[in-house]
Amino acid sequence: MAEKILVTGGAGYVGSVCVALLREKDYEVVIYDNLSAGHREAVTGGAKLEVGDLADRARLTEVFATHTPDFVMHFAASCLVGESYHDPILYYRNNVANAANLVDVMIEHDVRAIIFSSSCAVYGEPVRVPMTEDDPKNPINPYGKTKLTFEHLLEDCDAAHGLKSVALRYFNAAGATDELGEDHDPETHLIPIVLKVPLGLLDGVEVFGDDYPTPDGTCVRDYVHVSDLAAAHESALGILRQGKSERINLGNGNGFSVLDVIRASEHVTGKNIPSKVSPRRRGDPAALVAGAGKAADVLGWQPSYTSLETIIETAWKWHKEHPHGYRD
Ligand code: UFG
Repeated sequence: MAEKILVTGGAGYVGSVCVALLREKDYEVVIYDNLSAGHREAVTGGAKLEVGDLADRARLTEVFATHTPDFVMHFAASCLVGESYHDPILYYRNNVANAANLVDVMIEHDVRAIIFSSSCAVYGEPVRVPMTEDDPKNPINPYGKTKLTFEHLLEDCDAAHGLKSVALRYFNAAGATDELGEDHDPETHLIPIVLKVPLGLLDGVEVFGDDYPTPDGTCVRDYVHVSDLAAAHESALGILRQGKSERINLGNGNGFSVLDVIRASEHVTGKNIPSKVSPRRRGDPAALVAGAGKAADVLGWQPSYTSLETIIETAWKWHKEHPHGYRD
């Protein structure tokens, strides 16, 4: 019988791509999503959508009792660094308190295996680049603190209740599939903002700071394709089946600056993308690049999208077809 996976946030950007892959591989998938940031149109492949909020324990309990999943993949979260400074309680509520409800209901229903969308934001300002999983974790913004706090909660629940977890620490999720792409409101992520210029929706890009200790002074990030992230989730199920817990970085191991992204986007789109330097954005480390060795060793994971231009090409294709996101 096919294994059944409950996917929180499965109508969101990374979650929806993962759901599509799981359905291709014939897993049964139930999505639990409150559609606050997710899109009904992003639910594909015959996955079942149960609309509900992680704050609503009664609804969660009903969904677990009805569907009896084998595993949980937990994507649903608030995920904007800037917003997390203005409204930290929202972040602790969604990413810790409501996520704790999920774990509690899982244990009540004897579901003891979860894959968690963590973030490179748990490390804070890195002590070295590339960063490996055992490096110090000193998150510098409330978003990263909530992701680390939930990782700690999972560790404590492993000790107390035998709950096995794989925390996948994504670097910068990017790109699109033919059907599924990035549609946030408001959009704050670099690649979709840059692509709004050739779409005629923005006049130019603001570069947040050019005085970082990086080769061109702008922040360096490790952009990893959303389909590669999805593949890593499927591989991580193997760790849970072995009754193990792990913390794993997901990145390409290559860093690109904000200016690199703008230049690559000009090349991909064939359009000029004007930019101007603005002050630094709060909570941005200078450089975040994954040491991706553990993902290769433990998951057998090798990203198939290793070139920034190819990643941007996939995003460009989707944004051209959906200039206003899923509303189109
Ligand atoms: N940037 C600009 N101009 C913009 C938008 C972004 O210069 O208009 C810069 C940012 O300052 C940063 C880089 O582009 O240096 C990338 O910014 P993103 O907002 O696209 O992504 P982040 O690096 O902030 O991503 C971080 C973590 C992720 C985490 C995410 C949550 O790296 O792990 O925050 O939103 F998931």
